[in-house]
Amino acid sequence: MIISVLLLTLFTVTGHASAHDDVKERGEIISRSENANFYSSYWTDGKSKVTYNNKANGAYSVTWAPGGNFVAGKGWNPGSTKKNVSWTGEFKPEGYSYLSVYGWTRNPLIEYYIIESYHPDHEPAAPPEGEEKGNFTSDDSTYLIRTKMRVNKPSIVGTATFRQIFSVRQDKRENGTVNVQNHFDAWKAAGLKLGSMDYMILATEGMNSSGTASITVL
Ligand SMILES: *[C@@H]1O[C@H](CO)[C@@H](O)[C@H](O)[C@H]1NC(C)=O
Ligand SMILES: *[C@@H]1O[C@H](CO)[C@@H](O)[C@H](O)[C@H]1NC(C)=O
Ligand SMILES: *[C@@H]1O[C@H](CO)[C@@H](O)[C@H](O)[C@H]1NC(C)=O
Ligand SMILES: *[C@@H]1O[C@H](CO)[C@@H](O)[C@H](O)[C@H]1NC(C)=O
Repeated sequence: MIISVLLLTLFTVTGHASAHDDVKERGEIISRSENANFYSSYWTDGKSKVTYNNKANGAYSVTWAPGGNFVAGKGWNPGSTKKNVSWTGEFKPEGYSYLSVYGWTRNPLIEYYIIESYHPDHEPAAPPEGEEKGNFTSDDSTYLIRTKMRVNKPSIVGTATFRQIFSVRQDKRENGTVNVQNHFDAWKAAGLKLGSMDYMILATEGMNSSGTASITVL
């Protein structure tokens, strides 16, 4: 039993090309078992002290200090349009930070966030930073749809210009279940087109802030 679990444990590191030497990105499949197969992604711009602790199965914790930007978490690669993502945990940020179902699509290149909680220092993509595209109800809360363009920023294909799409939950929470299909359907109805799925994680992101998060994706 122990041997078969060890044999199923794969370690891979995939580098994403970047125009900046100080931008590092890696994705790792760190654990597999008979009923779980979680992908892990930890990206940092290298400008703040971040300790990402990649635990067994769907668990991780992260502690961060001010300076730069990071995004870290566990999930799947590729993500799926037909998922209910459940997790439990604690999210204790001080300053600009998000807890979200986070991922990327290709063709078109899109960075998306289903934001479940965030620190009030920075409301995600609030106008005029972002554009409002309506709202809808899912999983017992209203979500606001917002979008904005990113020009020459780090992405999964290196420095690129791409759209970000946000669902911003109004009734914030630190654990629960996100019906991902509802969000993708609402974005499509708002004219925001996704491409083919790349990775999807339950992410903690910090931008020149500090905090701790301890999350278990179920
Ligand atoms: C997600 O949960 C909802 C509500 O329980 C259910 O109707 C739906 O079929 C589930 N979707 C998937 C892909 O399991
Ligand atoms: C879930 O979140 C609520 C607050 O949003 C908290 O009171 C509760 O302890 C959390 N439960 C777990 C298992 O993390
Ligand atoms: C949601 O959209 C409706 C219809 O456009 C609007 O009346 C309402 O104010 C919006 N709610 C929020 C919370 O923005
Ligand atoms: C980070 O935050 C500190 C204190 O709030 C501020 O002085 C500094 O300019 C910020 N750095 C960046 C890169 O935004």
